[in-house]
Amino acid sequence: MECWPVLLLWGLPQMWASPDALRPPGPSHRHFPAEPLSSTGLRVLHISPFANSSWTRTDGSFWLGALQTHSWGNGSDIHFLRPWSQGKLSDHQWEQLQQVFWVYRSSFTREIREFAKMLHLDYPFVVQVSAGCEVHPGSPLKSFFHSAFQGSDILSFQGTSWVPAPDAPHGAEVVSKELNKDQYVKDTLEWLLNDICPQLVTGLLEAGQQDLEKQVKPEAWLSSGPPPGPGRLLLVCHVSGFYPEPVWVRWMRGEQEQPGAQQGDVLPNADGTWYLRVTLDVAAGEAAGLTCRVRHSSLGGQDIVLYWADGSHVPVGWIVAAVLASLLLVGGGITFWLKKRRSYQDIL
Ligand SMILES: *[C@@H]1O[C@H](CO)[C@@H](O)[C@H](O)[C@H]1NC(C)=O
Ligand SMILES: *[C@@H]1O[C@H](CO)[C@@H](O)[C@H](O)[C@H]1NC(C)=O
Repeated sequence: MECWPVLLLWGLPQMWASPDALRPPGPSHRHFPAEPLSSTGLRVLHISPFANSSWTRTDGSFWLGALQTHSWGNGSDIHFLRPWSQGKLSDHQWEQLQQVFWVYRSSFTREIREFAKMLHLDYPFVVQVSAGCEVHPGSPLKSFFHSAFQGSDILSFQGTSWVPAPDAPHGAEVVSKELNKDQYVKDTLEWLLNDICPQLVTGLLEAGQQDLEKQVKPEAWLSSGPPPGPGRLLLVCHVSGFYPEPVWVRWMRGEQEQPGAQQGDVLPNADGTWYLRVTLDVAAGEAAGLTCRVRHSSLGGQDIVLYWADGSHVPVGWIVAAVLASLLLVGGGITFWLKKRRSYQDIL
């Protein structure tokens, strides 16, 4: 690879309009980062809380689709989380990339601090960045660099220039204009996003192929949740331990999908697999004969089908509550007895 220019990002402008310039615009804040990423995209996230004028840290992570590949703790190098995290970069190239990230982090911190001073921004505040690229064979590369202040988008790098976020306060426009004057930073960023990022993604996809293409079958089971009302049941279908993340879970009667089912978020298990629950609120008399159907790429077209049978699913929540209640009673009793004993001893 050719030379790796040193990244001097955030040679940030010297003129934010007012301390209010960076305040979130209104109540309709989006989550940051907003868009999900495909499995052939790489995203670098970092979050930088600034507690006061002297305390800050920047912690980051690298994600290939939904899989974390690297961690980047404050004050340290980028660490590999997978045996294949170096992708196809040579040791030398990787070393240089580390240096680019060191320079980036310290420049970023310094510049943000300077702005805070200049604009009399109130501490504490948080700045976040989400940057990377998506590579799809046969279609143009998509790269992105978004930043957020206090959880709201303020600024992004689009193509070859900085653009304020659609609903961002006025300050973001001023900043974009200033940033756009710095051709060196823009060139460096373009090079990182459009040359290095896709190169890294392609290498990671190749080196990590076995891991990335693994298929793990889900387990599924039923339970009932807290009754939503008199004469009603909350049926819960749990699906756990599957990989990759896309999964299809429905409550059905025969071939008929039941409307009104509530699907939770797909949550990560500690071992890198996923968990999902889908609930259905039904009249108690109508639960029998309902099924939970699970479709997943690991099942080879053979759906998992679980039948609801009345009376066979003890509400787990109640058991937990009962156990907790008795633990509390026993614990309370012991504490009371110990206290009494101690006070008797104090007297003696
Ligand atoms: C800055 O914040 C850190 C972390 O909250 C705290 O420990 C430290 O005392 C603060 N320093 C000043 C000068 O306020
Ligand atoms: C984060 O790292 C920088 C140097 O890399 C250091 O100066 C700073 O104190 C660290 N922050 C915390 C909270 O440890």
